Amino acid sequence: MESPDLPTVVSINGKIMFKEEAKISVFDRGFLYGDSVYEVIRTYEGIPFLLQEHLNRLWHSASKLEMGFPFDQNNIVKEVNTCLGELGKENAYIRIIITRGQGPLQLDPVSAGSNNIVVITREFKENPKEWYKNGVNIIISNVERTSIRAIDPNIKSGNYLNNIMAFIHAKKQHAFDAVMLNSQGYITEGTTHNIWVVKKGKAYTPPLHAGILEGITRKTVLVLAKKNGIEVEQKNMTAEDLINADECFMTSTTKEVIPVTQVNNAPIGTGEPGPITAKLHKLYQDFIQQQIALS
Ligand SMILES: Cc1ncc(COP(=O)(O)O)c(C=O)c1O
Repeated sequence: MESPDLPTVVSINGKIMFKEEAKISVFDRGFLYGDSVYEVIRTYEGIPFLLQEHLNRLWHSASKLEMGFPFDQNNIVKEVNTCLGELGKENAYIRIIITRGQGPLQLDPVSAGSNNIVVITREFKENPKEWYKNGVNIIISNVERTSIRAIDPNIKSGNYLNNIMAFIHAKKQHAFDAVMLNSQGYITEGTTHNIWVVKKGKAYTPPLHAGILEGITRKTVLVLAKKNGIEVEQKNMTAEDLINADECFMTSTTKEVIPVTQVNNAPIGTGEPGPITAKLHKLYQDFIQQQIALS
């Protein structure tokens, strides 16, 4: 469990402050309705990794929620850099949140004021090595992933209640995390990660139309796999496919590539992290180093 006391610097609408002073109105629609979009980015050696891709996704999410664009990407980059400068940590976690703003207690957003733009930066503590060495266990949740015709999971909004419920159920069952199925019974993704399966040397991950967030790590791993001769396919899969996989792993910005060695208390394949997972994690880490060298 990470310490709540990690050094943290926040910017609210361009005003830099420490976390104790960082407060937002109870009339903010992000608080009232989850009416917000967000991104999580991390730095390596002080450099926000794939920042432009995250900003593009933030814009995509805001546009899908018809938030309009009264904010400027350059200003957000400036805020991120100012916070990171104040924080002074090589490895940082960055969260950018844009809410629809604050206004009277009514659903109609027409009277919401201007967007609130919040940047939270915090020291990033490296993940436990055991996750990568031994793998982690997941459950298949009975919380259904929202349909792409509801709030499309490809919108990274402040509404994460399905994911939170799935995560709570996972914790109750002493699991690291959970994977959700869609209404047709196909695998979608984890609560804050994309999911992958390896069978006979080929890596599979659910397609966007299964109802997933288009993870930036997922996108990167797809490209790296193809470039390096590992066969990949985006394909609908059932819980059975996951249970009977040779390997399984999860991807996200803060997790990179974590082997999943158990599902619903049963081993996946040999029950040990597999070679394709290890190879893809190594390729991902090499890519991080290349990106750092370029910037
Ligand atoms: C629901 C969900 N899926 C997938 C991901 C992974 O996305 P990324 O690789 O861009 O971090 C996240 C990240 O937070 C997420 O919340």
